[in-house]
Amino acid sequence: MKIYLETMGCQMNRLDSELVEGLLRAAGHEILLARRDADVVLYNTCSVRDRAEEKVHSRLGAEAHHADPDKRVFIGVLGCMAQRLGKKLLARHKNLSFVCSPGRLRDLPALLESALAGHRPLALDPGRSQSSSSSSPDGLVTSVTGSLPHPETPDEWDSLDLSRPTDLVPGNSQSYVRITRGCDKFCTYCIVPFVRGPEVSRDPGRIADEVRRLVDAGRSEITLLGQTVNSYLWSTTGRTVRFSDLLSLLSPTPGLRRLRFVTSHPLNFGDDVLTAMRDAPNVCRYIHCPAQSGSDAILKRMNRQYTRAQYDDLIDRAYAILPDVALAGDFIVGFPGETDADHAASVDLIRRTRYKNSFIFKYSPRAGTLAAKRLADDIPEPVKKRRNADLLAAQGQVGLVHHRSYVGRRVEVLVSGLAARPDRQQASPAPGQVQLLGRTRGDHIVVFNAPESLIGTYADVSIVHATDLTLFGTFP
Ligand code: 5AD
Ligand code: SF4
Repeated sequence: MKIYLETMGCQMNRLDSELVEGLLRAAGHEILLARRDADVVLYNTCSVRDRAEEKVHSRLGAEAHHADPDKRVFIGVLGCMAQRLGKKLLARHKNLSFVCSPGRLRDLPALLESALAGHRPLALDPGRSQSSSSSSPDGLVTSVTGSLPHPETPDEWDSLDLSRPTDLVPGNSQSYVRITRGCDKFCTYCIVPFVRGPEVSRDPGRIADEVRRLVDAGRSEITLLGQTVNSYLWSTTGRTVRFSDLLSLLSPTPGLRRLRFVTSHPLNFGDDVLTAMRDAPNVCRYIHCPAQSGSDAILKRMNRQYTRAQYDDLIDRAYAILPDVALAGDFIVGFPGETDADHAASVDLIRRTRYKNSFIFKYSPRAGTLAAKRLADDIPEPVKKRRNADLLAAQGQVGLVHHRSYVGRRVEVLVSGLAARPDRQQASPAPGQVQLLGRTRGDHIVVFNAPESLIGTYADVSIVHATDLTLFGTFP
């Protein structure tokens, strides 16, 4: 079968998609780079915000509308939306052939076989939030949860990651490695603990093996992934491995030039992590550590489990131990009951922390979460919009100061590819050169002109200009 897989949402989904592609290839399928000739179209979906889900619904609607009567295309929904909506998805989209949750991706080749045989299989993780009230969609041939063996032990949860192909193609310099699955934090706005399940840490030996294998295949930058990556904890009798221990264990891997990690939770960020970073020069000077709000009242209602003072203290420790660290944040505006004073505290936090960049979201209630059940979504949309713009403006200012501090410096850039759109801030490339894009060890985006052959390699770039989100440089 010719399969096209489209990935939405976070880095976790990108990793899942890469692993799924490996599985499907191993099962004899072909993975296409474009949708056009596909026999099977897979959507790997995200449920964090309503807008992401609406996009998938409209794509599925469009698939039905433009369906070619002479060619059956099998459509599958994978990921968090699959887990959250389950049978409801099959009922709403009659053109949908199968549904597979993030914890069941290992079963995908079998699900596809079942769909090709005329069933509409559904593979969900047991014991999680699903549309439990959903009735069986009438008239559908549906093999339900449990008809395929489901993973029950942490070992089996690991099986998708362990299935990563051994014959990795060289050429790609960057890879993700999962170190934890799921989340136990239960922030009141967040759907993740319901769809990705409880937090499980992977065996450090298996993580180290996977990193070594990837580095041996030429992947010199490894990003460790977890919903709250720094709460990693592995214990067996007589041995405990914390996140900081894992960094120290992995960083000496021969050939590993960059070790990164996302996303951190402020609660688990002790000095042990900061000093492990300081003592390992190949650990990137980048911390994505979402605050969500600068106000204690809101943090409490969000169940973030830290105060503003504790967050400020973490930032002070980070700058003291790692003076060149670049910080990134996430914020939610318009959380239920957010006052002007609460909002002002978030603006103040952005100015105080001097983030390199922040991701800013308008609150969107997610069915099943505590906030959606207990707190009225009472901030009017125009107020959410204005607050969103306020935070973006504050972030724009600190981001500009941060990026300008790099002008006149030389930075090491891992070149990821061509700049998507020619950037007007950058002079047109000379003959034999193209406009390239890459990242520094602090995760700064760098645009510069150089030969295309640099893609996938490291280049020393002199920074000559900066905006609030981008550095512009010259090479050599
Ligand atoms: N509404 C708005 N933003 C949300 N996020 C998570 N849940 C919601 C929600 N219900 C944001 C948080 C998180 C990021 C991945 O998405 O800022 O850090
Ligand atoms: Fe969601 Fe909070 Fe867990 Fe992050 S820490 S995934 S925001 S519940």
